[in-house]
Amino acid sequence: MNPRRLTGLTGLFLVLILALPGCATAPSPDGELVLVAGASGRAGRYVIQRLKEQGIPLRAMTRSRADAGQRLGADFAGVDWVECDVRDPAQVAVAMAGVGRVISVIGANTVGDDNSAEFVDYGGVRNLVAAARREQVQHFVLLTAIGVTDPAHPFNKATKGALGWRLKGEDYLRASGLTYTIVRPGGLVNEPAGQKGLRLEQGDNWRPLLRSTLSRDDLALVLIESLSQPGARNVTFELVNDPSLAPGAWRQRFATLTPDPN
Ligand SMILES: NC(=O)c1ccc[n+]([C@@H]2O[C@H](COP(=O)([O-])OP(=O)(O)OC[C@H]3O[C@@H](n4cnc5c(N)ncnc54)[C@H](OP(=O)(O)O)[C@@H]3O)[C@@H](O)[C@H]2O)c1
Repeated sequence: MNPRRLTGLTGLFLVLILALPGCATAPSPDGELVLVAGASGRAGRYVIQRLKEQGIPLRAMTRSRADAGQRLGADFAGVDWVECDVRDPAQVAVAMAGVGRVISVIGANTVGDDNSAEFVDYGGVRNLVAAARREQVQHFVLLTAIGVTDPAHPFNKATKGALGWRLKGEDYLRASGLTYTIVRPGGLVNEPAGQKGLRLEQGDNWRPLLRSTLSRDDLALVLIESLSQPGARNVTFELVNDPSLAPGAWRQRFATLTPDPN
């Protein structure tokens, strides 16, 4: 952690917490470390694989190391894991200490309980963004979903408004003053990257993209690329695979994206 960032009681609090057994975090070059929130999920697994492959230092978040280890098997090894429930601001502060960049692929997968979209996709994202601001994080990449702006989307009905809570999380990030990228994928599938082209759209016109899917592996590459592409700064876009486009051409598409209004 950069000691210049620590001020007053907040700094003292973090120093004391990081000194506790089990809270130690691996050192990394200043500003490089990527916190992957949701690293133990189906998309998160690809994100950590690709970050490792690219030699980018990462800290992976899960609520339970034991559960994540069981789910991820070999992908769990050799990664710095932090246990953190995004609903708890104190745990999020510890997870965020020393972080330079964030990729969040968290998501609620239950409806109507205390870990549903309201508390994870909105409350949890709010806690992550607030902690990222305090840590002066350079770039925050947030995964949400296609169709979040449409209250009439059928998924919204089925999930008692989960998309609406995701939109609130997006809005909180857009208003935060942080540099950000918001990626709204179509239906996710476990396919290798690079098999098909990728379509990046803006405006959340989801109906024509309804039957499109997206490889979680391609998604991971786009999320990571967003950290370094100038055209990905302060933009929101939808993302699906499109076999009519050349694989790899998507990197040039960043330069033509329209930044969100301030
Ligand atoms: N499936 C689709 O077709 C689709 C389409 C569009 C968008 N999306 C969105 O894409 C994202 C990733 O999808 P996925 O398939 O990878 O989801 P997933 O496998 O269900 O992973 C969800 C992740 O969220 C984490 N999480 C949940 N509650 C948490 C909490 N309270 N604190 C900390 N972490 C928490 C889980 O971590 P632990 O359980 O280890 O704590 C897990 O890593 C989700 O937001 C999903 O809604 C999915």
